[in-house]
Amino acid sequence: MNFSAKDLAAMIPPSFTLGVATSAFQIEGALDEDGRGPSGWDVFAAKPGAIVDDHSPVVACDHYHRMPQDVALMKELGIDSYRFSLSWSRIQPGGSGPVNPAGLDFYDRLLDQLLASGISPTVTLYHWDTPLPLDEAGGWMNRDTAYRLGEFAAIAAAAFGDRVARWVTVNEPATVTTNGYALGLHAPGESLLLKALPSVHHQLLGHGLALQALRAANVPGEVGITNVYSPMIPASSNPLDKLSSGLMDVAQNRLYADPVLTGKYPDVIRAATFFTSFSPSAADMALISQPLDFYGLNYYMPTRVAAGPGEGAVPPGMAEAMGDDLSGSAPGAPFHITPFPDAETTAYGWPIKPEYISVALAEMAERYPNLPPVFITEGGASFEDVVVRDRAADRILIPDERRLRYLAEHIATALEATAPGGAAESVDLRGYYVWSLLDNFEWSAGYKQPFGLLHVDFETLERTPKASYYWLQELLAARKEADAGAAASAIREPSGAGQAAAEAPAVGEASGLTGEPDPVP
Ligand code: FCB
Repeated sequence: MNFSAKDLAAMIPPSFTLGVATSAFQIEGALDEDGRGPSGWDVFAAKPGAIVDDHSPVVACDHYHRMPQDVALMKELGIDSYRFSLSWSRIQPGGSGPVNPAGLDFYDRLLDQLLASGISPTVTLYHWDTPLPLDEAGGWMNRDTAYRLGEFAAIAAAAFGDRVARWVTVNEPATVTTNGYALGLHAPGESLLLKALPSVHHQLLGHGLALQALRAANVPGEVGITNVYSPMIPASSNPLDKLSSGLMDVAQNRLYADPVLTGKYPDVIRAATFFTSFSPSAADMALISQPLDFYGLNYYMPTRVAAGPGEGAVPPGMAEAMGDDLSGSAPGAPFHITPFPDAETTAYGWPIKPEYISVALAEMAERYPNLPPVFITEGGASFEDVVVRDRAADRILIPDERRLRYLAEHIATALEATAPGGAAESVDLRGYYVWSLLDNFEWSAGYKQPFGLLHVDFETLERTPKASYYWLQELLAARKEADAGAAASAIREPSGAGQAAAEAPAVGEASGLTGEPDPVP
């Protein structure tokens, strides 16, 4: 597949949003500053062995102090939209009760600077960093946390509602339940296995209450939820592998999408009520399935599933990357994830299979006839980057062609799939957000899995654009040029005020470099 920036730019409809994404806990640092309260992740990450090499999130990318510079880099990139999350603990340190004005002030400045830079803000209310007092009271196992999220949404709506283009209530509840409550790999570190089911329902209820609060505040922005979606592929035609893949599909995809888009949990899950105290009322289901303005879908990879207990719940490459012995992390699970025999993988061990973004979109269209407009709210890849010092030209280059190719192929495939005649032509695909603007604190994998368009040196905190940044800049500039000639009546988001990539090296230039490659720590 051809992935030149100009060719891809020509495929992108004028109204399509191209964005970059981050989350508060992964980039901000400044955990003890200006009245921020602790979050469950502060405590989890401080436990010896919880994070690879015991990396600490205390400073992260220091975005809290470097926000103006980071927004300037986005403006230069020329991006349409920035998706970031609010640190609940910075705004409402106790998770309930009083609001911290300094917390509101930080996001006020961020929003104002984004708008002044022509970048449209997409705000995630909850991206996993639950305030510690709520985690101590049971976190998402406690129904009360859902009401607290509704209350937090009302605070955010009142403070920022006038400036936010798009709201994501909850990010990837599947990951919170699986990693945080079932397997103990993320905060709050619970290993409840099937007994984690109430955390699903309470997060979805939190989504419903947050959505209700945003609508009650009459925010002009669009409101949606973000679920991760991974097509499940049986390892063979063996009926047991097929059954296993179907079960994984329920556990990771349908469990979270069905209630939101159809108002019902999958039948298999309703049968599991027998094992738990999980019994949702009709009123809860109505809240969870309120109409959405858009559906956020995070797509990274497909998952290959085989019957039998296997080595653990996490693919071996990924387990290694996380520095954990995860074997037995899903004791007794009747199926396991197994690598694709033919796939190139990212540094995380995640299979790179762009054709499956089309499968994901097609499955969503088939399953959910009333699917609202879709944004791919995250997509990207971690690779160990190499810093090349071009001494002659006195500059540093980071030739991350594999990341650039990942992004190009996934964006192109998603656009083709949703164009007339494509496998998912009925999906109204509105945009794609690259994960991530910056290399950052990748949860249990610490700083070992860089996803950024900008390299971050975690000692000096210096940001350096990678080849993927320049490629995206060129693409955005080319699209802007093409749009300038197009009908003036096209409705679109404010396009990034970034300048053309006049000084950006073409991607191919990286290969002609002089100087020694330095592996990035
Ligand atoms: C997603 C998360 C995001 C980041 C990427 C790599 O599951 O939403 O915070 O960790 O994966």
